[in-house]
Amino acid sequence: MSTSQQIQIAVAKGDGIGPEIMDATLELFKAAGVMNHVHFREVRMGAGVFAEGNSRGMTDEAIRVTEESGILFKGPMGTPSGGGGKSINVTARKMWNAFANYRVFKTLPGVETVYSKAGIAIDFAIVRENIEDTYGGVEHRLSNDMIQCKRLISAPGSDQVHRFAFQTARKVGVKKVHCGHKANIMKMTDGIFLDRFRSVAKDFPEIETGDVIVDALCLNLVVKPQQYQIIVLPNLQGDIVSDLCAGLVGGLGFAPSANIGNHISIFEAVHGTAPDIAGRGIANPTSLVLSGMMMLRHIGMNKEAATIENALLATLESGVHTGDFGDKSKPSVGTNEFTRAIIDNLGNKPKTVPAADVPAQADPTFVREPKPSGPRMIRTFKNLVTQVAGCDIYLDSPLSPLALAEEMQRAAADTPFKLTLISNRGTQVWPTGSVYTECVDYYRVRFELKDGVTAGSFGQSRCVALMDRVAESFTVCSYELLRTFDGVKGYSLAQGQ
Ligand code: NAI
Repeated sequence: MSTSQQIQIAVAKGDGIGPEIMDATLELFKAAGVMNHVHFREVRMGAGVFAEGNSRGMTDEAIRVTEESGILFKGPMGTPSGGGGKSINVTARKMWNAFANYRVFKTLPGVETVYSKAGIAIDFAIVRENIEDTYGGVEHRLSNDMIQCKRLISAPGSDQVHRFAFQTARKVGVKKVHCGHKANIMKMTDGIFLDRFRSVAKDFPEIETGDVIVDALCLNLVVKPQQYQIIVLPNLQGDIVSDLCAGLVGGLGFAPSANIGNHISIFEAVHGTAPDIAGRGIANPTSLVLSGMMMLRHIGMNKEAATIENALLATLESGVHTGDFGDKSKPSVGTNEFTRAIIDNLGNKPKTVPAADVPAQADPTFVREPKPSGPRMIRTFKNLVTQVAGCDIYLDSPLSPLALAEEMQRAAADTPFKLTLISNRGTQVWPTGSVYTECVDYYRVRFELKDGVTAGSFGQSRCVALMDRVAESFTVCSYELLRTFDGVKGYSLAQGQ
């Protein structure tokens, strides 16, 4: 029975081993007194819902209950290969604007890794931007041979995730936050991500900052992981780096994950549905338990979270283990026996690793944000003066750069624009280039204002008219306006320019 004081949480058990590990986790929560403050409302998501022809993989009821609760606790879910079904995880994060993926990586007793054997304790977190970047899935076939995926990084989207990283650092007492990026190559997209990191950092003066190029970060993480505390990354880089980090602490089964948004947050196991062991009662529930602990802390139930954490650590320390990890010379136990061992340890503390502080009082603080009346516009920069400086037109063409240049110069002859550049796969091939540059059937031609034409003297219609003229004899695949923002170029130069 739910009471009006209880915090509501939507629960989707998931597919494969999902129901087994979710039932185990909820039994543990019940034993730890979580249900005194929380009412779990089961909803349907996953393979069964896809099989009913629902391409979102979640029922309307599941959407309603999750939106009412503001929290979704989910087991792993299978995504059908091919067809119209999209990953529920990606759909849920994007639909509910869970913009920050927070994953904690911590050495656990009884979970042997090369680092634990070397006596290196790992304890850090990754905050991954969760919505933007190439995960927008904006992809097009542009010519016979060229496919494009648009990489979208916004200033307010970056601000949100950086602010979450610094707020988390402040909350958990972390002294230094790093930003991982590739701004040396993607100067504008990763550039804005890094700029916004530095800007948001000014609101957290007590926290030190550092930035690191993502490839160097991977090396550093393997060589000396203990040098990091919190690292914030763009989506794709964060996705890859967080799985690398899971490997440092024993695999995906030991890395919890929280997807945090302003209104709705999602807590989930990071591993998949493990179809090979589903229904056999041998799955390891640790990842889901760890994610559940993050969820309890998110709603202010620090006492219960710390009690469960200590019981889990004490259990792992005692050598009790499921078949996927631990001392192979000792027999493994099943999901229920493993859970029972944790329940039996409630109130105990680990001896070989620091125990979590258990607050005297349960203090649930979660307050549901009111439902927005519509999609909100989030903005970082307003009122910048923008001026049209030209346009890039993208063409599907088999011509040589020289032949293309002649055609384009003819098209621009009596317009305010002159042809300034042709590039192929980002490399300049006209007015100068290398004979060694191989070209594919997709060019960018850049037109900029002729000498003497004042920037800002007209809007974009002249560019559209030029594209129209080019389109009379060429296949125009796409078009990007070149603009300045407060006098600063809002476009990159080609390699070799
Ligand atoms: P998987 O993580 O399900 O399995 C990989 C290996 O790890 C298997 O040998 C499995 O038995 C083992 N394993 C995973 N979790 C375990 C646990 N808790 N205890 C013991 N052993 C465990 O990855 P796979 O096989 O690539 O994916 C299977 C399905 O899961 C796919 O349909 C995929 O789309 C889905 N998936 C869902 C995710 C989610 O909902 N968050 C994440 C990753 C995959």
